[in-house]
Amino acid sequence: MTLPDVREKAREKLKGICGVYRICDGLDTRLCQGHSYGRPLGIGGVGSGSSFHNNFLALKKLHLKMKVIGHDFEADTKFSFFGRELSMPIMGASVAGVNSFGGEKVIMEKEFCRSVVLGCKEAGTVGWRGDSYTYSLENTWGINAIAEANGWGVKIVKPRDQDIIIKFFKKAEVVGAIAVGTDVDGCGSYAMAKYDKPIYRKSVEDLKEIVKSTSLPVIIKGIMSTEEALAAVEAGASAIVVSNHGGRVLDHTPGTADVLPEIVAEIKGKIMILADGGVRNGYDVLKMLALGADAVLIGRDIVRAAVGAGILGVRLQMEYLKKTLAKAMKMTGVKSLAEITPDILV
Ligand SMILES: Cc1cc2nc3c(=O)[nH]c(=O)nc-3n(C[C@H](O)[C@H](O)[C@H](O)COP(=O)(O)O)c2cc1C
Repeated sequence: MTLPDVREKAREKLKGICGVYRICDGLDTRLCQGHSYGRPLGIGGVGSGSSFHNNFLALKKLHLKMKVIGHDFEADTKFSFFGRELSMPIMGASVAGVNSFGGEKVIMEKEFCRSVVLGCKEAGTVGWRGDSYTYSLENTWGINAIAEANGWGVKIVKPRDQDIIIKFFKKAEVVGAIAVGTDVDGCGSYAMAKYDKPIYRKSVEDLKEIVKSTSLPVIIKGIMSTEEALAAVEAGASAIVVSNHGGRVLDHTPGTADVLPEIVAEIKGKIMILADGGVRNGYDVLKMLALGADAVLIGRDIVRAAVGAGILGVRLQMEYLKKTLAKAMKMTGVKSLAEITPDILV
């Protein structure tokens, strides 16, 4: 099976939900973009979809400087993530709630979690697990999948009640997860509100409390400004993810690659900086790294890969990303991640 086969299969299964287009850009004419006048959010962006589309545009307007004269080399994409050596600075994002796309005709949540975590592990990288209204302290599919992978995963908990977050973190600790975190922008989640699962805006004090509650590194996901990046540092977080949740929580935000440079200028070197939103291939990855991200996450393409062919689909998707990143690095003259600087952008 090849990645095009996986995507073909995903196109069949996601009929009416996602067109599995060659370019996934959140344009308002796309199948997924029906939210503005009341259709479910599905895999699309909130409201007009402009935040989703801006992620795409922010990457599209960046250009890579080709540099091909010099010694030949194969680029080294290895990345160190909280003491683990990964094959690439690219991980599977904390996506959840795909069971609402059609249950077993598409993919069940338990299988989705296994596909992301085990597929990423097979590709030498890490699958993150998210949180949705069907997850509870009794129903911890994400953490179960991380346990099956001997701890090789990251668990992100929605900004629920403090006590619940801390209990999820403890469960992740027990299975030896690499890190935990919360998607602070998840306080804008439609699904949680609809199913009466309370979620909250979190104060710096709240974040400090959850950081102190665990021995694992804590990641704050959903940062779109320097002020909030500094708040995450103040709270003692080990990493942030510059993210607008794939454009799913607030209409009319800038693209993540638009705000990444100012956040990097403020906190680079203090804590790890990850970014996501519209990253579809290694060329996009290289652009994010050139702007100062340490690593990136992949959202919608992981959904399509898991729906198309489970663990194998995710592995093929991640291998494609690694291959295209290595190609992009070679063609811009950078041998390792340490050599990537903003100079490789035109
Ligand atoms: C269907 C779907 C469900 C998601 N669920 C979660 C979640 O439970 N927790 C979370 O932190 N982010 C969630 N996200 C956001 C992703 O982690 C990621 O930030 C985003 O998808 C990146 O953008 P991309 O899809 O363009 O790659 C979800 C995204 C999608 C598309």
